Amino acid sequence: PVNLRGRHLLWLKDYQPEEIRFLLDLAVSLKAKKRSGVKGNLLAGKNVALIFEKPSTRTRCAFTVACLDEGGHAEYLGKNDIQLGHKEDVRDTARVLGRMFDGIQFRGFKQSTVEELARFAGVPVWNGLTDSYHPTQALADVMTIQENFGDVKGLKLVYVGDGRNNVANSLMIISSKLGMHFVIAAPKELYPNEALLKECRSEGEKHGAVIEVFEDPREAVKGAHAVYTDVWASMGEEEKLAERIKLLRPYQVNSDLMSLADKDAIFLHCLPAVKGNEVTEEVFESAQSKVFDEAENRLHTIKAVIVATIGNL
Ligand code: CP
Ligand code: NVA
Repeated sequence: PVNLRGRHLLWLKDYQPEEIRFLLDLAVSLKAKKRSGVKGNLLAGKNVALIFEKPSTRTRCAFTVACLDEGGHAEYLGKNDIQLGHKEDVRDTARVLGRMFDGIQFRGFKQSTVEELARFAGVPVWNGLTDSYHPTQALADVMTIQENFGDVKGLKLVYVGDGRNNVANSLMIISSKLGMHFVIAAPKELYPNEALLKECRSEGEKHGAVIEVFEDPREAVKGAHAVYTDVWASMGEEEKLAERIKLLRPYQVNSDLMSLADKDAIFLHCLPAVKGNEVTEEVFESAQSKVFDEAENRLHTIKAVIVATIGNL
């Protein structure tokens, strides 16, 4: 039986496929529970700290509502609210928060910060997005694909755009674990990190996953079950936007590109979206677009992560 009590969620690389499936199954049951109006107590008596160096709508609200739904408490700690990064280092912050909270969410810049928090906090630390990874997003994305097609094994997920950002990295990792056919379509300049690609391919071999990288988006999306894109400039790289617009214009997800995918293909985006850049208004608002189911699923998957790691299961 899977037991995730006390575990961190930093990048998903250290999770076994059955542990990921356990989280997804738990998310499905927590979603049904919420829909039926049942209030839970799986987090009764639990206090959770939410550290944010970068802004957030979905992740912040998902962690907050997840705690409240199950009788726990979430405390938002914005970058100007605490000493971290000004008067206190990561290690001391981790040791102090670990004495008061049962779990800590971190969203920010460096992956090394969330790892250092995990090393010193003594309680589970969850990565709510860094420059390198966005693991809770990947869980919600797979849940959404599963809602539309059933078991995700063998399904073709095509990510189009900035092939080396946090979202692309985490999708590659989760796809490799779950035996998916994961494809990145990106210009050469934004191809995925070689080391990560190699690691995911070798992990993927164990689970029947195929990972491919294409420069041509049209070739990449052929037969896709899910077409995914993200912003062309992530938080912290706003100054690169003009250059990215030039580079990524051919990678816009529009109706023409969607028409090359499977006839039942869905469109996904982690949000927030810049309509007219990475996706057209038409695709975003189409029946194929499942972006708001995906956003809602952030709540259920994040709740599953908190409950599984610190909850009264
Ligand atoms: N998708 C996502 O992480 O959204 P927020 O930045 O609003 O949390
Ligand atoms: N890649 C985006 C994801 C936002 C949820 C960013 O880091 O800004």
